[in-house]
Amino acid sequence: MKPRVVVTRNPPGDALRRVREAAEVWVWPENRPIDRMVLHTQIAEAAGLYCMLTDQVDTDLLARAPLLRVVSNMAVGFDNIDLAACAERGIAVGHTPDVLTDSTADIAWMLILGASRRMSEGIDVVRSGGWGEWNPSWLLGRDVSNTTLGIIGMGRIGRAVARRAVGFAMPILYASRSDKPDVEEATGAVRVSLRELLVRSDHVLVAVPLSAETRHLIGRDELELMKPTSNLVNIARGPIVDTDALVDALTAGVIRCAGLDVTDPEPLPSDHPLLDLPNCTVVPHTGSSTWETRAAMADVAADNLIAGLDGAPLPYRVPGT
Ligand code: DGY
Repeated sequence: MKPRVVVTRNPPGDALRRVREAAEVWVWPENRPIDRMVLHTQIAEAAGLYCMLTDQVDTDLLARAPLLRVVSNMAVGFDNIDLAACAERGIAVGHTPDVLTDSTADIAWMLILGASRRMSEGIDVVRSGGWGEWNPSWLLGRDVSNTTLGIIGMGRIGRAVARRAVGFAMPILYASRSDKPDVEEATGAVRVSLRELLVRSDHVLVAVPLSAETRHLIGRDELELMKPTSNLVNIARGPIVDTDALVDALTAGVIRCAGLDVTDPEPLPSDHPLLDLPNCTVVPHTGSSTWETRAAMADVAADNLIAGLDGAPLPYRVPGT
């Protein structure tokens, strides 16, 4: 008999075809995150879970999944999964790094450029009929080329952003747990403390995973350290930045602007104060949302799941599980 697998959202591409060859598959049929009660019922006999970053894999869920052997998250981030609880049960956890590095680095650049050059304000004004005669002092943004980029977290995505920064002739500072000599050699990046990075950078990019250690890593004190002309870009996870502190900083001009692919909460309600701020550019967690990348993520998640069902090493296993 084939093992049973629960898939919480239909992924793009044909990844599920391969999963169906290996397992008896149940897929949540709706185009919204799976209903928690339905997941609780479906997981009871599952050996594998193919899930999304919107699904909380916590002790409550695991307690209802006595047969579970593998959790495959179709995301690089895994803050939605209780890793310790999975490790305790010997459940392998897979994720999808590498394949989304370039698309996520690209969106970081979209936000660095878009926020600095006031792109969303420009689009709004054109759409609303407010585009008047050319004006020498209208919608002035800030330069990107030749300004300093600070990258918090020099993992795969941080590196890909740094590589692109060379084309903009930007000095790069980075804050990381360890030296990255290869990046330093390739891009001229210099490792500094988080404090120094915040003080010296014109653009601060958040590219660390969310953990207990990084929750609210950027709060009021950190925003106060930044230049009043600076730009904060978050492409990692919303809760790494204290949202209330960011709203206040953008309102008071403590920093000049922000570009966010991720927010806290998510989705951001349409009446959220961040959306009233012209100096805040928000896109809806679309860092990896290209056809190519999402299909590749779906494939890697399928590979991880199938390996886990077979008791084989996962191509991309989350360390520690
Ligand atoms: C991830 O994979 O963790 C990303 O946030 C999805 O875009």
